[in-house]
Amino acid sequence: MKTSRNLLSIYDLKENEIYNLFERSAFLKANRSSLCNNCLSGKKIGLIFEKSSTRTRVSFEVGVVELGGYPIFMSPKDLQLGRGEPIKDTARVLKRYIDGVIVRTFEQDRIEEFARYFEKPVINGLTDLYHPAQILADIFTVYEVKTGGDLKTFKDNNARNILKNLKITYFGDANNMANSWISLQPLLGFELVLAIPEGFKVDEKVLNDSKKMGGNFVVSHDKTSAARNADVITTDVFISMGQEDNKEKIDRLKPFIIDDGVVNSAKNDVIFLHCLPVHRNEEVTESVFERFSPYVFEEAENRLHVQKAIMEMLFK
Ligand code: CP
Repeated sequence: MKTSRNLLSIYDLKENEIYNLFERSAFLKANRSSLCNNCLSGKKIGLIFEKSSTRTRVSFEVGVVELGGYPIFMSPKDLQLGRGEPIKDTARVLKRYIDGVIVRTFEQDRIEEFARYFEKPVINGLTDLYHPAQILADIFTVYEVKTGGDLKTFKDNNARNILKNLKITYFGDANNMANSWISLQPLLGFELVLAIPEGFKVDEKVLNDSKKMGGNFVVSHDKTSAARNADVITTDVFISMGQEDNKEKIDRLKPFIIDDGVVNSAKNDVIFLHCLPVHRNEEVTESVFERFSPYVFEEAENRLHVQKAIMEMLFK
């Protein structure tokens, strides 16, 4: 079997490549109006989404078009995949038609199996374990805010130290966004605290992967101390897609809502990020969300710019 360059988790990237992606994302953001290159000209890029999506689907589709390629969206309803055709057969057929693919699915093993048989570049558009495209947009937003967003600053090696010296606190259960922050930490070296209620455990594979990479993070069950002196506070919906009926989980997470007390414990120039969609007054109060919403919607926009940079790197 042939192997190709994929983005199935952050561990498919090196630190230097992440900074190159920042630089390229900043350029693409500043030059959006003119089609600055046509690097996907003639390329057919598939989007296989086994779960609902607003941001990931639309930002990738628009990104392919802005890079001159042709996006083909496929849901399980449209594909025989939804009627039980094995993923490895789907991959072996699609590789004969298309040049690259973005996949949103369930288990990490499922996207890894797809990638093995597809033999062309695959980007993870969210699995139960990781959401690498989202975390790259999140950290790009942090970098942009904390370095002033000047393209020249992106070329300045000292600016990298800005990230290394940040404290980032994630609130919620140990879901795919928490796991994505854990995977990014060893590459960029920031301080990471996970504010997680007692009884929630980080996935074994995520722990082992982080350990292998020299990762280092703290789990705290005290939300105020977890946020103390934080530069960035971030969270995700407490109840992921498909878990909506889990009332017991909602009750256990309720005390970890991000409220004024949490924000006041952080640094004066703290920013709050949320990958969206938000459940107001569940994981964050309405007032905290609205106060920081300019950052949150910039983060959502940055999905497009960062993913264009990722697609240039993998698909062209
Ligand atoms: N944050 C995120 O992945 O949003 P969607 O589920 O709308 O794609």
